[in-house]
Amino acid sequence: MNNVFNVFSILMMLILAPCSAQNKNNAVNANTPNPLIEKKVSALLSKMTLEEKIGQMNQYNGFWDVTGPTPSTGDAAKKYEHLKKGYVGSMLNVRGVDEVRAVQKIAVEETRLGIPLIIGFDVIHGFKTLSPIPLAEAASWDLEAIKRSAQVAAKEASAAGINWTFAPMVDISRDARWGRVMEGAGEDSFLGSKIAHARVKGFQGDDLTAPETIVACAKHWAGYGFAESGKDYNTVDVGTSTLYNVIFPPFKAATDAGVRTFMNSFNELNGIPATGNAFLQRQILKDKWQFDGFVVSDWGSIKEMMAHGHAINKKHAAELAANAGSDMDMESYAYIDELANLVKEGRVKEAVIDDAVKRILRVKFELGLFDDPYRYCNNDVEKQVTGSQEIHEAVLDMAKKSIVLLKNEKSILPLKKQGQKIALIGALASDKTSPLGSWRLAAEDDTAISVLEGMQNYTGNTVSFAKGADLTLGKSTFPLELVINTTDKSGFSEAVQVAKTADVVVMVLGEHGFHSGEARSRTDLGLPGVQQALLEAVYNVNQNIVLVLNNGRPLTIPWADAHIPAIVEAWQLGTQSGNAIAQVLYGDYNPSGKLPMTFPRSVGQIPIYYNHKNTGRPVMPAPNEVFWAHYMDESNTSLYAFGHGLSYTTFSYTNLSVEKVANQTFKVSVTLKNTGKVAGKEVVQLYIRDMVASVTRPVKELKGFEMVALEPNQEVKVSFNLTQDELGFFNNEGKFIVEPGDFKVFVGGSSVTALEANFKL
Ligand code: NOJ
Repeated sequence: MNNVFNVFSILMMLILAPCSAQNKNNAVNANTPNPLIEKKVSALLSKMTLEEKIGQMNQYNGFWDVTGPTPSTGDAAKKYEHLKKGYVGSMLNVRGVDEVRAVQKIAVEETRLGIPLIIGFDVIHGFKTLSPIPLAEAASWDLEAIKRSAQVAAKEASAAGINWTFAPMVDISRDARWGRVMEGAGEDSFLGSKIAHARVKGFQGDDLTAPETIVACAKHWAGYGFAESGKDYNTVDVGTSTLYNVIFPPFKAATDAGVRTFMNSFNELNGIPATGNAFLQRQILKDKWQFDGFVVSDWGSIKEMMAHGHAINKKHAAELAANAGSDMDMESYAYIDELANLVKEGRVKEAVIDDAVKRILRVKFELGLFDDPYRYCNNDVEKQVTGSQEIHEAVLDMAKKSIVLLKNEKSILPLKKQGQKIALIGALASDKTSPLGSWRLAAEDDTAISVLEGMQNYTGNTVSFAKGADLTLGKSTFPLELVINTTDKSGFSEAVQVAKTADVVVMVLGEHGFHSGEARSRTDLGLPGVQQALLEAVYNVNQNIVLVLNNGRPLTIPWADAHIPAIVEAWQLGTQSGNAIAQVLYGDYNPSGKLPMTFPRSVGQIPIYYNHKNTGRPVMPAPNEVFWAHYMDESNTSLYAFGHGLSYTTFSYTNLSVEKVANQTFKVSVTLKNTGKVAGKEVVQLYIRDMVASVTRPVKELKGFEMVALEPNQEVKVSFNLTQDELGFFNNEGKFIVEPGDFKVFVGGSSVTALEANFKL
C-alpha cells in the first residue's frame, strides 16, 4: 500500500454524506427487460461522452486489500483523478460505510453526470462473520441452508456498503491440487448447478433494490477449474463434450437464477484467453443464453493476454477484450487508456461500447443506485447488522451441516459428555484464524471459535490440550499469507504424554486456512508439515483417536484411513467452527454431510472423479492380465467416494422400482429406513447411466438427491422423477438431445450405490 493511498483514504473517510433508505420494486430478471429501466439507461447513455462511457467500463481496486498483483506506484493519484472525472464505473475492495460513502460521494457529487459506482467485493463465504468455505457448504447438500448462508452474507456485506459480490464461483474441478477447489461446489455439475442457483438466489433475492440484497457474479467464465496439473492460472485444454456437459451447466443455472454479472477467467480455452473469447462471452453467454447483465474481467486478465501470447500490446488486448464481450476492465487500465483511440481508429465500434455501458448502467439502475446512491451507507445499520446474533446463528447452522463423518469404527463417536478423559492435540485445535479459511478479507484474525474453545464451553469433561507441533512457521496474515510448514518436532513428547492417559484423543490436523485458495496449488496432498509424524507418534501410545480434519480440499490420507478409527471432515468452517465441531463430536448434532469431491488415495490418481467414462478397457480381462485401464501401483478406486458421508445412525435402502409415468418420464422410488438407534438425516442420491449414446456418457451421473430426516425405525418411500432434462445430454454441437435406449438407475447414500435397476427410454 503506498502513502498516497493512505492519505487519500483517510481524507475520504472524513467526507460524510447523508444516507437514506428507499425501496423501489425493480424485480430481478435476466431475460425480460424492464421497459422503465431500459428507457432510463438509453436516456443517460445519450448524454454521455465517449470518455464517460469508457469510464463506466473501468474498475479500480480500492484502498484496502489487494486481491491481485500489487499495483505500481502512482496508481493512487491516477485513480483519484479518474474518479473525479467520472472515469470509474466501479471499485472493488472498498469496504465499510464510511469508505464506500466517501468514494460514492466523489462519483455522485463531483462528476459531470453523477453516475454512482457499483462497489464490488469478494464476499465468498461471508463478510466479517464467516460461514464455512464454499466447498464445505457444498458438502451439506442442503440447498436451503446454502441459500440462507448467501443471504446473511449479503446482509452483512450490504450493511458495510457493498452492493456486488464476486461470487458464486461455479467452476467445476476434478483436481484437488488446485487450491481454489475450496471456493467452489466440487466436482459434479448437477450438484454444482443446484448450488449455483441457490447461492445466486441467496445473494440477490427477488429484488435487488431491497437493502439486504447484492448483485451476484458467476465466475470464472469458463473452464478455470480445469487448469492443467492443478496449477492455478494454467492452460486449460478440455474437449467440447466436457465443456457443454460439465463446465457450462452451473453457469447456465446461475443465469437461470437471474445472476446479473459474470466474471471471465484467467485461462485460455482452445488457445484463446477467456477474456478475449467471443465464443464464450458473445456466442454462448449473450446470444444463446440471452444474458443481459455485464461481464467483468478478472484482475488484470485483459493485459495478461499479452503474456498469453495473444495480444501484441495493451491496446491490442483492449481491442480483443471489448470486441469479445468483456464489458468491464478490472485493474488492467487497458480500457481507460486505450479504448477511446481504438474507437476513433474504428477498431472497436462505438456500438460495442454502448452495449457494454448499457449493461453496466442497467445493473446499477436495478440496484436502485440512481434513486439513492447511498442506500448501502447507513452507519447504524452497519453497527446493528455486523456480527449480529442472527448471522452467527446462521453460520453455526451452516457449519454443522457442512461436516462429513468419513469413518466411525467401534462407535468411538459421539464422545461421552461426562466421564471421559479427552486429550486434544494439534496446532489447528487452538487456532482462531485458520478456520476462517481463505477469502476472508473483511474478517479479523483470531475471530473464529477454536475447537479447544468449542469443547471447553461445551462439556463437563476435562480436555487436556497439547499442540504437538506448529503447522506453519510464523504468523499467517493477509495478504502476505505465510504458509511455510515447520519441521520442528520438539512438542511431540508433550503431546504423547497427554495422549497416553486419555480415554480418547481428538487430533485436529490438516491444512491452514491459507494452504488453499487462489494461487495455493499443491503437489503433495498429505497432511502438511510434521502432522503425519505427530499422528503416528500419538497412535503409538493411544489408538483411540478421532481425527478431525481441517482442510480446503480433498487430502490423501490412506494411512489415517487404515489406522484411525474415526475421521471427521470439518473443512474450514468459519467463525463458529469450534462450536459446530464440538456439537458433532458430542452427538448433539448428527452429521449428515456428503463429500462433494472425491478423496484420492494418492495424488497420482488425479484427476479422479466418480462420473468418469468407461473406456474401452474398463476391467481386467483375465487374471493377471495387464492391458486394461489401471495403475500398476495403485487401485482405481477412491479413498472416499463422491457422495460418501456417515451418520451416527444407519440407513437401509430397499425396493428400488422404476415406473414409466409418461412419455420419456420415469418415476424412480426406493424405501429408506433408519435402522439405527438415533434420529438422523440422509441424502438419498440418484444416479443414472446412459448405456450407449452417440457421444459416450459417464459410468454414473448424479441426477437427483433428497435430504430425508428419519426417527429410529422410521421408513419412508422416496421418489424421483426422471425426465428429458435428466436423461438427455449436449452433443458436440452444443445441442441438447435425448436418445432412446437402455439406461441404468442407481440409488444409495453415496456414488458407490447400493441398488440398481434398468429401464428403456
Ligand atoms: C482474482 C480472482 O480470480 C477473482 O475470483 C477475484 O474475484 C478477483 N481477483 C478480485 O479479488
